[in-house]
Amino acid sequence: MSPVRAATNDALLEIEDLRLHFPIKAGLLKKTVAHVKAVDGVSFSVYPGETVGLVGESGSGKTTIGRCIVRLYKPTTGSIGFRTAQGVVDIAQLDKRALQPIRRDIQMLFQDPNSSLNARMRVGDIIAEPLEIHAIGTRDERRSRVEDLLEQVGLGAEMYNRFPHQLSGGQRQRVGVARALSIEPRLVICDEPVSALDVSVQAQVLNLLSDLQGELGLTYVFIAHDLSVVEYISDRVMVMYLGKLMETAPTKRIFERPTHPYTEALLNSIPKRVRGGHRKRFVLTGDIPSPVNPPSGCVFHTRCQYVKDICRTETPALRPLPDDPETSVACHLAEEVALEPYYTAEERRDLESDRA
Ligand SMILES: Nc1ncnc2c1ncn2[C@@H]1O[C@H](COP(=O)(O)OP(=O)(O)OP(=O)(O)O)[C@@H](O)[C@H]1O
Ligand SMILES: [Mg+2]
Repeated sequence: MSPVRAATNDALLEIEDLRLHFPIKAGLLKKTVAHVKAVDGVSFSVYPGETVGLVGESGSGKTTIGRCIVRLYKPTTGSIGFRTAQGVVDIAQLDKRALQPIRRDIQMLFQDPNSSLNARMRVGDIIAEPLEIHAIGTRDERRSRVEDLLEQVGLGAEMYNRFPHQLSGGQRQRVGVARALSIEPRLVICDEPVSALDVSVQAQVLNLLSDLQGELGLTYVFIAHDLSVVEYISDRVMVMYLGKLMETAPTKRIFERPTHPYTEALLNSIPKRVRGGHRKRFVLTGDIPSPVNPPSGCVFHTRCQYVKDICRTETPALRPLPDDPETSVACHLAEEVALEPYYTAEERRDLESDRA
């Protein structure tokens, strides 16, 4: 893990007011009758070498952001600034040809290695495919690069001729990692890369991603449902709800001093690992409202236990905290309510010494 970067203008990725509203079509004439506001005004930066965790319940818009960054989707509005050797380009505006070189720099790692790997292709060919698409190296050079990659992700060159179904889930995700890294990207969008794996295998794949980040100087945006998955891999965490960012903060701060009631609720959904830990639990109830017709004011107000009148009418902006500019929160009550931490600084030290 790299140290948390202070906000400077040397961001690798700088997203501003990103929106993706999917049209809903109906009727014989396929008229647009409404929009799914999957991403609704999101701004954040990612600095070189860091890992930013993007967390929120199902349907909050995490994958949609990832897909906008790799331009599988074209955003409705907003900009996605990406730093290249030639200067900053706006990925949101590039046409197909101008995107070509950017596609080498940004790769996406998917959740389900079963469906993201072509079952009819051999492992070696799956990993070599991006090299072929970008016409990198000769056939022999590609082969030796793939063999190196297989070693690097801990699989061994003898896996070259296997098919995906001959591998375990963890091994398949290692193939996914090798494929994503084959063309030496600078930024990797990891979309729940361990969610489909057994808990024991999850830690191995997370460690692999973390080791490769150090070796290759990669930058990660790491998407997850659950804060516990991003705790050890992320420098910073962004908490998302119904297409908007609720809180962004250094990971430690999130666990020791959450500022948004939704963050507190997400923390409460993780079983407590501290010895003797027992605490009152505020558990999120009710479904996430529809992104077609999100609640007025603060989108979280319908599920918030601290809700006040202002929350129903005025949309809170994401703003830095005066006493901690590295933390930003979109909550009217951030200064008023004291939220429950996941653990105290002392409990965290205990936990770290237990692990050591
Ligand atoms: N292609 C699409 N067309 C229409 N609506 C979509 C499309 N893709 C996603 N959505 C909707 O946009 C919202 C955000 O979806 P998204 O997949 O980004 O959420 P997510 O946070 O990644 O959720 P999960 O944790 O379940 O993966 C959801 O309401 C989803 O139904
Ligand atoms: Mg998703």
